[in-house]
Formats: sequence, C-alpha cells, structure tokens
Amino acid sequence: MPAITATASGKIILLGEHAVVYGRPAIAVPVEGVKARAVVSANPRGQAGEVHIQAPDIQLDTELRDLPLDHPIRRALVNVFSTLGMPRPLAFNLRVTSTIPLAAGLGSGAAVSVAIIRAVAAFFARPLSDEQVSQLAFEIEKLHHGTPSGIDNTVITYARPVYYQRHLEGEPLIETFRVARPFTIVIADTGVRSPTSIPVGDVRRLWQSDPETYEKLFDEIGRLVVKARGMIENGDVLGLGPLMDQNHTLLCKLGVSSPELDRLAGIARSAGALGAKLSGGGRGGNMIALVPDDQANTVAQALMESGATRTMLTVVRDPQEN
Ligand code: PMV
Repeated sequence: MPAITATASGKIILLGEHAVVYGRPAIAVPVEGVKARAVVSANPRGQAGEVHIQAPDIQLDTELRDLPLDHPIRRALVNVFSTLGMPRPLAFNLRVTSTIPLAAGLGSGAAVSVAIIRAVAAFFARPLSDEQVSQLAFEIEKLHHGTPSGIDNTVITYARPVYYQRHLEGEPLIETFRVARPFTIVIADTGVRSPTSIPVGDVRRLWQSDPETYEKLFDEIGRLVVKARGMIENGDVLGLGPLMDQNHTLLCKLGVSSPELDRLAGIARSAGALGAKLSGGGRGGNMIALVPDDQANTVAQALMESGATRTMLTVVRDPQEN
C-alpha cells in the first residue's frame, strides 16, 4: 500500500468569533500559507490495530495504545476507525507535522484533525464526505474547548470562505459566498500563546452572570457580520475595514483582547490598514488587518518593528477562482 499524504490549511475568523458560539453568524477564511500534514504508511510487521505515531512538533513518538484516552490524536484515530467500521485496521505509521502555530487562533487543532482523518480514510481507500470529515473533526474540537461553535472544523474541511451560523438545535447553516474583489489581510502574531478554552470559558461566565448585556453585544457582532458579508459580495473592500474595527471594539467589551493585540491593531491602522482586529479566541494569538494591496508590505514591516513575532499575508478570493 503506498503512503498517503493529506494536508489541511489554517484559517482566520474575519468577523464574528465568540458571538458565533451563541448562535450568531461568523465569517472565516482559509489561510493557505500554513498547513498541517498527515502521512500514513504501511507497517507490514505490526499487529492489526497497532499505530506508530510521530508528531515531532509536539515531541511525540509513541504507540497509539500508549496515548491518554482523551488525547486529540488518539480520539481522531479511534473515531475514524469507528466511522469506517474498522475497529482493528492493518498496522500503520502516522506522521503529523504542521506549520500552523499552536494556540494562536489559526485553527491548528482542527487542521491536524482534518489532515489525519483524510489521510487515514484515503489510506484504507474509504474516502469520507466533507460532511463526515467536518463532523469527526468537530468531535475533536470538543476536547480543545467544551463548547466549540464548529466554525474551525467547517472552514478547514471545506477550504473556502464560509458564512457559518450554529443553530443551538439542529444542523448549522454553512454558506459559501461570492468574493467580488479579492482582498489582502496581514496576519501578525503577538507571540503570546492563548488556548481558546480560557477566553471562551470567561465569556461564558460573563454571559451567565449578565445574559442581557452579553446577548446585546453578541447581536451587535452578528449585525456586523451580516453587513460584512454584503460588502464582500459587492466588492466594497473599503467598507469592510471599519466593520473590523468595530468588531474589535466589541471583542474588547467581551474582555478577550489584550494589550499586545490592541497595540498591534493600532500600529496596523497607523501604517495604512483599512481596519484591524484580533482573530480567534483572543488574549494572545493573532491580529488581522485589512490592507490596500500596495501597502501590505509596509504594514507588515511596521508590525514586525513593533514586536510582532511573525507576519503573513493572505489573499481572500472567490472560491470559484481556486
Ligand atoms: O482560537 P480559535 O482559532 O480556536 O477560534 C475560536 C473561535 C471562537 O469563536 C472563540 C470559539 C468557537 O468555537 O467558535
């Protein structure tokens, strides 16, 4: 059996994080410059059900059976075996690598899950539908933080811009939409690692203590997302910037920004960005800035000079163009 490789790109949330956990819409787009990769190869000498796992980025070199039961890689494998109806598949080796920074709001956990699920299913010549892959990855997201909205596994599985709305009961709304004019985003890393579970838990406690105030903030964020979608569909890139700024202000009110994120957003704006905000769980991780194409490098340079540990450019395009 030949070795099989599957990759999955990172993602950013353009607008709507946190409120999306509470049923408001959000927009996320893939970031193709960073990827998780899973390689599955045969292990003809191994016993059925054995999997040797190497994940050098997290210093893992182990047998599947030696991983804790709730380890995301173990869960991903066990769940995919169960979906494929193969409780003890032929022995294989799994190597996982990723260029997506961990705990940085770029979807590294979901991308690793999607890459593993697709590589294993393809190795056994039993490819899964996108819906099945996304659902399996969603189960793993629950290990990372208890109440994921499902947006990360969705945008990473479908690998195209998505407008996503979780319904508290029933299937989520997943829509793709027209990007009338491509636009450029600079992504800048604060260098501060922040597991999503912490800000998500804090927002939940605030919402529980004062639902009225927080429901209003979520509604305001939801309205910005609806407007932003319309602007992207109409090619109004200039109009999108202020909506990102407003979304950042609302995220500050939710208490999920940080001095580093606020500073990088301010620097991006002064260097020519049309709008800037934190992206993902917040408190650390990445800031994103919408930039005129000809200013992208200037903004990225200003951010590096002001303490960003890394910058990346990504262009959001119409899915039909890919
Ligand atoms: O930090 P990330 O990339 O995992 O983004 C999470 C986005 C949240 O809205 C904060 C949580 C969620 O499950 O949607």
